[in-house]
Amino acid sequence: MCGIVGYIGRNDTKEILLKGLEKLEYRGYDSAGIAVMNENGVHVFKEKGRIADLREAVDVNVLANIGIGHTRWATHGVPSRTNSHPHQSASGRFTLVHNGVIENYDLLKRDYLADVAFVSETDTEVIVQMFEKFVYEGLEVLEAFRKTLSLLHGSYALALLDEKNNDTIFVAKNKSPLLVGLGADFNVVASDAMAMLQVTSEYVELMDKEIVIVTKNGVTIQNLNGETVTRTSYIAELDASDIEKGTYPHYMLKEIDEQPAVMRKIIQAYQNEQGELTIDPEIIHALNAADRVYIIAAGTSYHAGLVGKQFIEKMAKIPVEVHISSEFGYNMPLLSEKPLFVFISQSGETADSRAVLVTIKEMGYQSLTITNVPGSTLSREADYTLLLHAGPEIAVASTKAYTAQLAVLVILAEVTAKSRNLDPEFDLIHELGLVANAMEVLCDSKELIEHISREFLAVTRNAFFIGRGIDYYVGLEGALKLKEISYIQAEGFAGGELKHGTIALIEEGTPVIALATQESVNLSIRGNVKEVVARGANPCIISMKGLNMDEDSFVIPEVHDLLTPLISVIPLQILAYYAALHRDCDVDKPRNLAKSVTVE
Ligand code: F6R
Repeated sequence: MCGIVGYIGRNDTKEILLKGLEKLEYRGYDSAGIAVMNENGVHVFKEKGRIADLREAVDVNVLANIGIGHTRWATHGVPSRTNSHPHQSASGRFTLVHNGVIENYDLLKRDYLADVAFVSETDTEVIVQMFEKFVYEGLEVLEAFRKTLSLLHGSYALALLDEKNNDTIFVAKNKSPLLVGLGADFNVVASDAMAMLQVTSEYVELMDKEIVIVTKNGVTIQNLNGETVTRTSYIAELDASDIEKGTYPHYMLKEIDEQPAVMRKIIQAYQNEQGELTIDPEIIHALNAADRVYIIAAGTSYHAGLVGKQFIEKMAKIPVEVHISSEFGYNMPLLSEKPLFVFISQSGETADSRAVLVTIKEMGYQSLTITNVPGSTLSREADYTLLLHAGPEIAVASTKAYTAQLAVLVILAEVTAKSRNLDPEFDLIHELGLVANAMEVLCDSKELIEHISREFLAVTRNAFFIGRGIDYYVGLEGALKLKEISYIQAEGFAGGELKHGTIALIEEGTPVIALATQESVNLSIRGNVKEVVARGANPCIISMKGLNMDEDSFVIPEVHDLLTPLISVIPLQILAYYAALHRDCDVDKPRNLAKSVTVE
């Protein structure tokens, strides 16, 4: 949440910062700003709204080759021009952008800044005001920086300009992600390598509680004691074209369509030379050594975890619990003797999951992260990582990462099962190949699904998704997709649970989308549909070939019954896409949301 960039070099920085912020808009998009510094001082441009609005506000005549920028997802203070970053100290000498949350900002205000008139309602302003106070009390700039940081409780990735040091960007990080990018006669800072891929692909990772002094010709990393730290750089293997929309109107549609290719890439990435599925033996050993797996995740990744539990329990016969990361921290269940923690996270940055990782590491337990982002915080800090190979997911609503998570989880289950001499009963490589083909068929059926979306979702204010067993978990994901981008109130329910309360909400015309992909519960879910129809519901049954009946609205191709979530979710993603489009919603950037939730 919130993204920051910085540039220092020979070129005019405005466009570099704005382009960088456009690439970070997925991290927050309620307001944005840049500050650029030249011989006349610091010039701040900020605006409520999108980067496009900020562009309008920037004075093209101001030239500068050092600057910082920020795109905001509001935590403290409403989205407004005043609360947007950069924030300045009282004298205007210091200018700051910040991603994170300062938990003790109120105490710091009271203890150190009682005489300062604050301009904004943000926690961030405390940092820049405190910094100025310490400098004016006589500390050197770096000393003041260190002292300020040592007093902060919470998370921060920040970049600071000082009018009296106009050849330097001061940078620091704790818990929030931040990278420094290296160039020939310039250097950059960014929350994510994607932002600065336009100028460099060489990056240096920063660790918590590090400070970086960035100039045009050098980057010096220090710890909070002022000791210099050496770190080798790496090349970010991102293809710039992966992060463009191409001819697609929205990233979400592009990412839905990428699912068959991602599936094939995963099959390839997890195959050895003998054509067998393979996973790092240490990971398989960790699973075999565990008496219980605890999956920790949020949102869509949590929904993937629910399906993953079925894979691991049914195929590898290891008990699995799935927990929402934001609850786990203070609501920890009684743990088994030898737990293995599996973190599922597209971004690898979700703060709630990271908080759990920190806790269980302190308790001495082992961890595996399944993520789309190599080098992300959860990947770096867990003992093991499995990558999703889905390519950057830019749309806020997760689509291809969800199906990639399912694919990696089922491969993990299969390889573990084989290591335990359990007969998987099917050829997973072949079955996943069929899944990829089925995905293609579904991606080619958009016209029909758009028609269904108009029929069922055009005017409704709510919708229900029902299913039994594994279909129930997919229903939860379908409901999340629909509500987050179309703002239709949508809920997923276990088919049998509906009559224990929720059925009271069914009125004339209420859409009920039912999934029927499992033979064992096909008749019971259809029974639940009849119950809601009897109360006026407008039913939309999505079934699998072979189980379909005349009453069904859409039939998905047949795949192995354990793998149906990989494809039954696709019509739900497309339904949500068109529902949002028909309601003129911003599909890729739904209100109030951000792609990486880096605050707890
Ligand atoms: C919904 C969505 C979110 C994320 C959640 C966790 O479409 O994308 O629910 O799944 O914020 O994010 P990650 O997977 O990055 O940990």
